[in-house]
Amino acid sequence: MKLIILGPPGSGKGTVSERLAKDFHLFHVSVGDLLRKEAKKNTALGKKISSYIDKGDLVPHQMAIDIAKKAIDKKQNFIFDGFPRSVDQAKLIQDVDIDAVIYLDVPEKDVVKRLSGRLLDPVTRKTYHLQYLPPPKNIMKRLIQRKDDTPKVIKERFKVYHQETEPVIKYYQKKGVLKKIDGRGDPAAVYARVKKAVTL
Ligand code: AP5
Ligand code: MG
Repeated sequence: MKLIILGPPGSGKGTVSERLAKDFHLFHVSVGDLLRKEAKKNTALGKKISSYIDKGDLVPHQMAIDIAKKAIDKKQNFIFDGFPRSVDQAKLIQDVDIDAVIYLDVPEKDVVKRLSGRLLDPVTRKTYHLQYLPPPKNIMKRLIQRKDDTPKVIKERFKVYHQETEPVIKYYQKKGVLKKIDGRGDPAAVYARVKKAVTL
C-alpha cells in the first residue's frame, strides 16, 4: 500500500500516520521529521535546513524530493506524511503509483489549538498534546516543544500551506485518488474515519 497524507499544519498528519504505519505495516516517511533530524546535526546542510524550517518556509523542492525518494527506496508499503507539498513536488513523483491520498480537513481555529499544546518525546519520537492526547506522567519532564510552534511561525506555515500545498489537493482530486476526511473530533474518532476510508 502506498499512501500520502495531506492537511494543514497541526491537522494530525503525524498522529494518524503513526497509527496507520502500525496497523498496516507501512513505512512512515515524514519529510518534516527527516529534515529536523538533519537540522539537529549542525552541519552546513543542517544549518541551511534550519534557516527555512525555523521561519516556516518550505525547504528547496529538490532537497525535499531527494530526501523523500531516498526514504522509499525499494519499499513497497509506505505513507508519505506532509509530502508532496506543492504541485511541482507532486509532478516529480508521478511515476510512483499512489493508492490513496488522505486529506485531513480541519478548520484553522482547531489546528492552532492543537499546535500550541503539542509536545514531542525525543526518545520515542511520539507526539502528544497537553489536553487532547496527554502523555504518561513519568515522561513529562523529557518532552519538548517544536521550534516552529510559535504564533509567528505558525502564521507563516499557514500562509505557505494556502499558497503551495492547497493546490495539491485539487491535483489529486482530479486523479481520482483523493479521500477527504473530516479531521475534527478526538484522535480516535478521526483515525476510525481514516481507517475506514483506506480499507474501502
Ligand atoms: P511538518 O513537520 O510536516 O509540519 P506541518 O505540515 O506543519 O505539520 P505538523 O507536523 O506541525 O502537524 P501534523 O499535521 O503532523 O499534526 P500532529 O499529528 O503533530 O513540516 C515542518 C517543516 O518542514 C515545514 O514547515 C517545512 O519547512 C519543512 N518541510 C516538510 N516537508 C516539506 C516538503 N515536502 N517540502 C519542503 N519543505 C518541507 O498533531 C498536532 C497536535 O495535535 C499534536 O499535539 C497531536 O497530539 C494533536 N492532535 C492530533 N490529532 C488530534 C485530534 N484529532 N484532536 C485533537 N488533537 C489532536
Ligand atoms: Mg507532523
